[in-house]
Amino acid sequence: MLFGRVKPLDAILATAEKKSLHRSLGAFQLTMLGIGAIIGTGIFVLTASAAQKAGPGMMLSFVVAGIVCAVAALCYSELASMVPVSGSAYTYTYAVMGEILAWMVGWALILEYAVAASAVSVGWSGYFMGLLKSSLGFELPQFLASGPAWSYPGGVPTPDFTAGVVNLPAIIVALAVTALLVIGTTESARVNAVLVAVKVAALTMFIALTLPVLNGANFEPFTPNGWLGHESGFGVIGAASSIFFAYVGFDAVSTAAEETKNPQRNVPIGLIGSLAICTIFYLLVSAGAIGAQGAQPLMGPDGAALAPGSAAMASQCQALLAVGQEPLVCSNEALAHVLRSISWNRAGDFVGLAANIALPSVILMMLYGQTRIFFVMARDGLLPEKLASVHPKWKTPHIVTIATGIFVAIAAAFLPVGQLADISNAGTLFAFFMVGIAVLVLRRTDPSRRRPFRTPLVWIVAPLTVAGTAFLYWNLPFESKMVLPIWGGVGLLIYFLYSRKRSHVGRGIIDVHEDDSDAPPPPVPPVPSMH
Ligand code: ALA
Repeated sequence: MLFGRVKPLDAILATAEKKSLHRSLGAFQLTMLGIGAIIGTGIFVLTASAAQKAGPGMMLSFVVAGIVCAVAALCYSELASMVPVSGSAYTYTYAVMGEILAWMVGWALILEYAVAASAVSVGWSGYFMGLLKSSLGFELPQFLASGPAWSYPGGVPTPDFTAGVVNLPAIIVALAVTALLVIGTTESARVNAVLVAVKVAALTMFIALTLPVLNGANFEPFTPNGWLGHESGFGVIGAASSIFFAYVGFDAVSTAAEETKNPQRNVPIGLIGSLAICTIFYLLVSAGAIGAQGAQPLMGPDGAALAPGSAAMASQCQALLAVGQEPLVCSNEALAHVLRSISWNRAGDFVGLAANIALPSVILMMLYGQTRIFFVMARDGLLPEKLASVHPKWKTPHIVTIATGIFVAIAAAFLPVGQLADISNAGTLFAFFMVGIAVLVLRRTDPSRRRPFRTPLVWIVAPLTVAGTAFLYWNLPFESKMVLPIWGGVGLLIYFLYSRKRSHVGRGIIDVHEDDSDAPPPPVPPVPSMH
């Protein structure tokens, strides 16, 4: 019975009932929570690679990715409100589709959270280096400022060290955030609100300075790489698959469902509200960047757009830089760069500073999310229980946090931001795909269970989620797309060699935890500071 091990929903719900968090969040706080988790490297950094993939048509890519996120968010919310315990999509899948698929989802969520933390660390590094150069004239030697560029001759990943060797600032920020988590740093709702204000102020200033200098000619040709591009990963859809990263994080809103007043009303407002606000910002920011500086892709000798992060792209960017040109698609700090290119140097520095201040909190949330998934999986017996051990003084799961932090730092040291974001997207899209299915299965198998939030038009919205996530996954660059099955294969091996025989559900142990007090508090614990 490969799919027979289901964790009884009632046992999971018993955990949730004992937990009974105070319901204090309203629609406004939820929206702030969402924006705090969403805005990050996606818009501040990946705008450059989106332009390389789609040209000005990246505006459409933001819309496509936003729509897929919106339908996924509605499905996510139904499960989050029904099964309001830690572990997100992993827990939902365990209850609905059984242990092996839950394991696969949990395993894929490692890609989502840990690799996203690496991507945001690399994004932070680009802005940090830019700010140091612009304000102090200081530049790290190139080999310490960026990881290598990668190419895939015959499918074999091959590093090219001319553009860089190791991304030192990315390692430092990843380890610094890990250290904060180990000693138990959490982010209060007030800090989150300040960081949201900083990000929103930076983006608003960007829009206000760039829109008046829009040059209509920069929007032509609008879709130089077409909708699907010359290969997977390019064109409007390829860019949508990558820029999907800019929306990741909204699950923070769904997982706060249990702490929300009137979740039926407030969760969808918080989710759709934060996604809608971010989409509007993203559209205006990308229009400003395109209109002010231009966003045409660099083409290779064969007339096809070069792959962002590739050795060929890095060398063409260096050649252009040598003659004093730096197009948007080459920049590691896209938004600051656009402002400097239209002579708003100080404003560019401000945007850089805002990114430097705000991005570490996105790393913190991602890293935290990862440790919590590991924690729950270890508690279910699927990973070594040692991983879930809590530090006697700091009361944090220090072993799993440090292990995750080292993994995140290594990935950030050697991989380009765009590729990390794509790999993270592959894991996220798989998890959302499963959520879309789980919502429908549960409507069939358990129609009368209480659903504090019901996905509207579920027979349309859930299939759209399944189809939309599969479509975006399919349009990721080939190398990133392949990471998921390879990673999944390794995961299955571990499952059959280790986890399956140790699983608590498999051994007939049904855990009903008093509460999640043995888990560390969330990085944005809105409840304590709101009442
Ligand atoms: N959406 C988050 C970001 O763009 C992960 O950084």
